Amino acid sequence: MTTTGRRRAERQAPPIAANGAQPIAPRHILDLDDFSRAEIELVLQNTDVMREVLRRDIKKVPTLRGKTVITLFYEASTRTRVSFEQAGKILSADVINVSGGGSSVEKGESLYNTALTLQAMNADIIVVRHPHSGAPHFLSRFLNSTVINAGDGMHAHPTQALLDMFTIKSHFGDIAGLKVVIVGDLLYSRVARSNLWGLTRMGADITLCAPPTLIPADFLGFLGDGAERNGGAVSAHPFSGVRIETNVERALADADVVMALRLQKERQQAGHLPTLREYSRLYGITPRRMALAKPGALVMHPGPMNEGIEIDPEVAHGAQAVIEEQVTNGVAVRMALLYASVSGQLAVGRQDS
Ligand code: CP
Repeated sequence: MTTTGRRRAERQAPPIAANGAQPIAPRHILDLDDFSRAEIELVLQNTDVMREVLRRDIKKVPTLRGKTVITLFYEASTRTRVSFEQAGKILSADVINVSGGGSSVEKGESLYNTALTLQAMNADIIVVRHPHSGAPHFLSRFLNSTVINAGDGMHAHPTQALLDMFTIKSHFGDIAGLKVVIVGDLLYSRVARSNLWGLTRMGADITLCAPPTLIPADFLGFLGDGAERNGGAVSAHPFSGVRIETNVERALADADVVMALRLQKERQQAGHLPTLREYSRLYGITPRRMALAKPGALVMHPGPMNEGIEIDPEVAHGAQAVIEEQVTNGVAVRMALLYASVSGQLAVGRQDS
């Protein structure tokens, strides 16, 4: 083989894992349940580097030149869509945004056919938000492009959880041992589910707080008191140390981090809540309630917020709130993930520890 031919073959061959055993294939990012602690650490370290790029006067690096990222959003979004677009552009990728409205989806084209069409345009990464849980997983089964879940139904929002963890780590240095209280609509929250996977893997002490009607029934089988049940099967579950509290004052005591979740107003119509005013009175994060947490505890919210319902405006815009910081970190985390995906850092065959 000529030198040129050999170089071309090397370029086309899949990279080999460090142990030489398994070929490395691009890894879809669907949730954090299949992320090891080492992989989360890797993303958070990359995010630190990307934050430095964001602080430069000229925010542009050639890392993803020649790569194409398509954002495919079937559901409204401000933060996630814009931050993926910004992340891709800063890394010099070609970024194409497709939304349900204005595309052939309006003519009845299926998710499957839309995705095949986009893949035929040689997309390297397809970032998907969809109202139905499992839609990104469905796409990942037949697309060659890397699929990144940007939020699917009530299932998962892994990039949000990673930016939340980065924000926490940047304030405390370490996540392990911190008391993180997640308050709100646990039943429908994909943010809470992904944070549960990520934060437990990083060793946080998690308390979930919601009215009983907004606590998923399956959570009750695994969480709450750390008791040995079902012959130890419960205590072996990764969430067995997570506590459930229906009283917000008890939940917030000595918290290091308070994460309020968006109360999805449609839940009232579904009969889960008598009135939004009652929810706000019993569960809203107010200055008085924040005083129960540790001094300087962080206030987080994934956005968009219903100010005056799940969070008091004084808290949302107070000195302890890091809500806009979360948004900025969201750009850096998505840069880190795009880079890790394209470079093979996050790849099948590299799931150690
Ligand atoms: N946190 C979040 O997913 O916000 P958007 O819906 O604006 O993307």
